[in-house]
Amino acid sequence: MKKFFIVISLVLISLFTFNTNVSAATDKVAYVTTSIGEDGQRQMLVNYHAYEEGTVVEYTVLSDTSYANKVTVTPTSYSWSYKSPSYSAFRDGLVCKATLDDLTPDTEYRYRIRTASGATSNEYFFKTAPERGTFTFAFLTDSQAGATQYNIFNTLVGKAKELRPDTAFVFHTGDVTDRGGQPEQWNGFYNQATNLSLMPIASTPGNHEYYLTDEAVNISAEVYNQFFNNPQNGPESTLNSSYYFTYGNALFVMLDTVKTSNVNDLKDWFVDVVSNNMRRVIIVGMHIGPFTGGGSYGSSGRSVFNTWAPIFDKFNVDLVLSGHEHNFAPSKAIYQGEVAEKGYGTNYIVGPASGTKTGGFNRDFIFSNNKPLSEFFLNDEVGTLNLNFSRAGILIRVGANDTKLEVFNAEKILYDYSIPTRRPKSFFEIEKDNFMKKIKVEHDEEEGTAKIVWGEDAYGNVKTVKITNGPAVTETFISTPLFVERSIGKVYDGNVYRIQVEVTFTDDTVEEKELVLNLSGEDIEDPEKPEKPKPQPAGCQMGSGVASIIGLVTGLAGVVFVLKRKR
Ligand SMILES: [Fe+2]
Ligand SMILES: [Fe+2]
Repeated sequence: MKKFFIVISLVLISLFTFNTNVSAATDKVAYVTTSIGEDGQRQMLVNYHAYEEGTVVEYTVLSDTSYANKVTVTPTSYSWSYKSPSYSAFRDGLVCKATLDDLTPDTEYRYRIRTASGATSNEYFFKTAPERGTFTFAFLTDSQAGATQYNIFNTLVGKAKELRPDTAFVFHTGDVTDRGGQPEQWNGFYNQATNLSLMPIASTPGNHEYYLTDEAVNISAEVYNQFFNNPQNGPESTLNSSYYFTYGNALFVMLDTVKTSNVNDLKDWFVDVVSNNMRRVIIVGMHIGPFTGGGSYGSSGRSVFNTWAPIFDKFNVDLVLSGHEHNFAPSKAIYQGEVAEKGYGTNYIVGPASGTKTGGFNRDFIFSNNKPLSEFFLNDEVGTLNLNFSRAGILIRVGANDTKLEVFNAEKILYDYSIPTRRPKSFFEIEKDNFMKKIKVEHDEEEGTAKIVWGEDAYGNVKTVKITNGPAVTETFISTPLFVERSIGKVYDGNVYRIQVEVTFTDDTVEEKELVLNLSGEDIEDPEKPEKPKPQPAGCQMGSGVASIIGLVTGLAGVVFVLKRKR
C-alpha cells in the first residue's frame, strides 16, 4: 500500500510540475538545474538559461504552496553562446547562477523562476541535509545516449525515489551527454530527465562533456560549466568541475580527472580540503576512476589508482565512485595496494551506466602489486553474467553504523551489500598536555626498527602528527582512530636518534616535543654537547639539523627519553 501511494505521489508531482504547461515562462527559461552548495545543510545552488533580462529565483518551504513567505534571489548572469565546428549553435542567452543561502537544515523546499513580466516557470524541489543521521542518494553515471534516450536515466531517477523516498540527490560521475558540444544532446537530456526537478544533482564532466566536436578529443568543460552551478571551491584550473560539499556526516569531494594536466594542483587541493573538513564518512567522485572492471579501460584505471590511492589511503577515504567503464565493478576495501585488514582502506565502485552503453570485464587483469583484479573484486560474482548490470544505478544510504549499497534498475533492486562506517560517532575531548606526555618512541630490538606511538584518543582532537628524524619527515593525518603510530624505519646500535614530533590539533594549535632514542650504549650526560654522530646507513642519516635540534632539547619541558639498550 505504501508503495502504491509513493507511485501515485510521483505521478501527481509529475502531472503538476512537468507535463502541465502552467507557466508562460517556459520559453524564457530553460535548463534549470539544482546543485548542492558547499554546506548542504544551508546552501543550494541553481543554474538556468534565460532569454530575457530580469529573471529571479523565488523559493519557500515545501508546505508554502502559494509562495506567501517566499524569498527572492537575483542571480548573477552573463551572455553565453557557443558554436562547435561540428554541430549547430547553442541558443544565445543569459546563463544565470543563483545561491540560496541561510536555509534550514533537514527541510524540504520548492522554488521557481519568475520573469520580469511576472510569468513563472515549473517548480523544482530539494531537501537540505540533516545535521547528522541517515540520508540516501542515488549514484548514477554515464547517462550519455543519443538525443532521444535520456528516458533511461529519467526512469532510474524516478525509480530511486520510489524505492527509497528519502533519496536526497543524484550523484553523477560524468558522461552526462555523449557529445558536450552538441545542443541537441543537452536538449534531449533536459527535456527527458524531468525527474531531476525532484532533487539536486551533484555532477562532474566526463570525457564526453569535454568532446566539443564529433572527434573523440578532450577540449574543455566550457559547455558543461554553463549547465551546472557547482560550489566554486575547487582549484582554479578545474573550478566548477572539481569541488566539495558536506551533507550530514559525510564529506563529498568531486574530482575532475578528465583534465589531467593539473593533477598535482588537484592532489594538493584534495589534501587541503579533507584536512580541514573531516567527517565520519568521506566519499569521492571522479569520472575516470581508480578502479576498473579490467576491460578496455583496465590500464587507465590502474594508472589513476597509482596516482590517487596513496592519497585516499592517507585519509582512509570510505568510498570512491567512478564511471566511464559502463560496468558494475565493486571492490573489497583496499589499503596500500592490497586487500585491507578490517577497518582500513577504501571501497571502490565503478558504477553501471545509467544510459545505453555497456562495458567489459577481465578478472585476470593485473591491477596492483602484481595481483589480478579477481583478488580485489568484492566477490567471485563480479565480472560474471550474474553481476554484469547496465541501465542501472546504485542507491547509497549513509547510516550511523554502515553504508548500504543497493544496485537497482527500472524494475527492482538487483543486488545489495554494506560497508561498515569506520569512524566513531563521537569522541572525548582531550587535555593537550596529557596527549603530548603519552607520545613516545618504541624500539623493537629484534626487528631493529623503531616507531613513534601516540594515544588512541588522537582522532577528533588531532589533525596531524609530523615526525622529523634527521632528513626524514613524515606527516600522519589522523583520519581514523586506527592511526596511532608511525614507523621511523630501521635503527642501528651505536646511534643516538633525536626525533622531533609536531602535533597540530583540530583547533590549529601546535605543540612540539622531542624524543630521544639512545642506542649508543653510553649515557648522554650533556644533551647540549653530544658526541659526534657516528656513521649511519642510508635512509637514517642524521642531517645537518642535528646540532640545532639538540639545542632545542634542553629548552623543551617534558622531554621523554626512551632508552632500550642492547647489552
Ligand atoms: Fe561513458
Ligand atoms: Fe567516459
